[in-house]
Amino acid sequence: MTGPSESTGPLWLREEEGRQVAFTAGLGTPPAVYGERVIGRGGRQWRRWDPTRSKLGAAVVKGWDDPLPRVGERWLYLGAATGTTASHVADLVGPSGAVYAVERSLRPFTRLLANAEHYPNLLPILADARTPGRFVGDVPIVDGLYLDIAQPDQLEIALTNAAWFLRDRGALLFAVKTASMGRERSPQHHLQDVVQRLESMFEVRSSLSLEPMHRRHFLVGARRGAPARPRSGALTPRRPVGRPGRRPR
Ligand SMILES: C[S@@+](CC[C@H](N)C(=O)[O-])C[C@H]1O[C@@H](n2cnc3c(N)ncnc32)[C@H](O)[C@@H]1O
Repeated sequence: MTGPSESTGPLWLREEEGRQVAFTAGLGTPPAVYGERVIGRGGRQWRRWDPTRSKLGAAVVKGWDDPLPRVGERWLYLGAATGTTASHVADLVGPSGAVYAVERSLRPFTRLLANAEHYPNLLPILADARTPGRFVGDVPIVDGLYLDIAQPDQLEIALTNAAWFLRDRGALLFAVKTASMGRERSPQHHLQDVVQRLESMFEVRSSLSLEPMHRRHFLVGARRGAPARPRSGALTPRRPVGRPGRRPR
């Protein structure tokens, strides 16, 4: 069986029984965070990334590769819960990067704190993502923003936090729960609406349905900055959604 070597990056994909399976190189001691399988290869401990427990994990086994957290980057993670996905993001950015993990509810936060005890670059913050002014002192300008908050105003939360914290050309990974946006419209309609509104601040690069692992969920990937103007003609009308800019004072 082939495996990763010392020089491989922190993400390892391989086929098991005809299915794509993802692993990240665990940074924690011990590496397991949520009871996932861990195997040793090439001098590192590889944690299986369970696609049923993580939206980014589901996207990765479906072929998602851009944008992804990269070694050395700083990410702001909103809706960290107990740290299942946030810990894999911490593996991807490696010891020279950091993940600022915001969670509002005390119960998952308590477990997030315990998990972060053995994760050197996972930094928990107890706060409401709707009020970035309350955690601005704890979070620097970041290279990436991950958002997994199943709330009707998830899009506004993404745009507000991007305006405060995300550098120009920084990445957005947005786990969109369409069921939180009302059931009177189809998931596809909700996705279109989200993409169109994100385009006020982002170049949207990709979107992917996370079925069957996460029902009525999509992952949207984007980079901060104006999308390229269409060459030939009129711009598509866009609804203004706040003014992108520097961190408010
Ligand atoms: C779907 S769960 C996140 C799962 C997690 N991202 C993972 O993959 O491991 C959504 C989390 O967002 C949190 N949340 C909801 N609204 C929030 C807010 N306004 N600010 C911060 N966290 C919030 C919830 O408490 C919950 O833990």
